[in-house]
Amino acid sequence: MSAAIEIRNITKSFGNCKALQGIDLEIQEGEMVALIGASGSGKSTLLRHVAGFIAADAGTIAVMGQTVQQEGRLARNIRGIRANIGFVFQQFNLVGRLSVITNVMTGLLHRTSLWRGLLMRFSVPDRQAALEALVAVGIEQKAWLRATTLSGGQQQRAAIARCLVQGARVILADEPIASLDPESSRNVMELLATLNRERRCTVVVSLHQVEFALKYCPRTVALHRGRVVYDGPSAALTTQLLCELYGSDAEELFGRALDSSPHKHPAIAAPLPFSAA
Ligand SMILES: Nc1ncnc2c1ncn2[C@@H]1O[C@H](COP(=O)(O)OP(=O)(O)OP(=O)(O)O)[C@@H](O)[C@H]1O
Ligand SMILES: [Mg+2]
Repeated sequence: MSAAIEIRNITKSFGNCKALQGIDLEIQEGEMVALIGASGSGKSTLLRHVAGFIAADAGTIAVMGQTVQQEGRLARNIRGIRANIGFVFQQFNLVGRLSVITNVMTGLLHRTSLWRGLLMRFSVPDRQAALEALVAVGIEQKAWLRATTLSGGQQQRAAIARCLVQGARVILADEPIASLDPESSRNVMELLATLNRERRCTVVVSLHQVEFALKYCPRTVALHRGRVVYDGPSAALTTQLLCELYGSDAEELFGRALDSSPHKHPAIAAPLPFSAA
């Protein structure tokens, strides 16, 4: 089995801030991995490096066997490599005034001619592919509405549909549920899990709340101050371990789980060391 994502010794500083400090990580094809960590731990920075949006100071990243960046340089054919990589942002990143289906079809721009792309002229097969993707994410009835009219959860589904028409083999989702209510959060996580299971998309999803990592992702990578402090089965992440890893930052990772007991997840089944008040 080949690695879908290979990260070797990635470091990145912003001025005095050491955002990533020697990250090594290998994620196999078909895995669904949670990336957790308190605010500022480096989750977004790492995902942006994997997508080739930012060049690191040093280190190498390859996605689906293609080098995204090496020793501070993005690959020359980075646009082509990005076709394999779908990125889902916390703030949806749809163009509000365009229809939902047009937003989804922008996932095809990497293989559409320049003039067609500029004019947003898409072919009948492109529209068909976009509609199929909208069916897959369950919002085909919204295809012709403006993106702004959708709820946050529906916009996130449209963003995931865009990854599907793009043909992305790897989906990087940066806190896709942070702006959503609990039910929409569950729906979006279920959708990512379904794509992972049924289409074998490799999914890396950054999350603030560990309860979702435990429920949907067999493997969790935990970052703390730009370093990997845990990489292993999500089921092994006990409350005690999280407190050891994160100290006073641990509370941020439990979110609303602090209020809900008893709970079936191992990380919140044990007595909590901090007050729920
Ligand atoms: N463009 C930038 N310029 C300067 N500093 C940056 C930049 N991007 C990130 N940082 C810094 O790098 C560190 C890691 O930031 P990052 O956004 O990756 O954290 P995060 O884990 O995604 O946090 P959050 O959970 O709040 O989204 C932070 O200290 C942040 O201030
Ligand atoms: Mg972030």
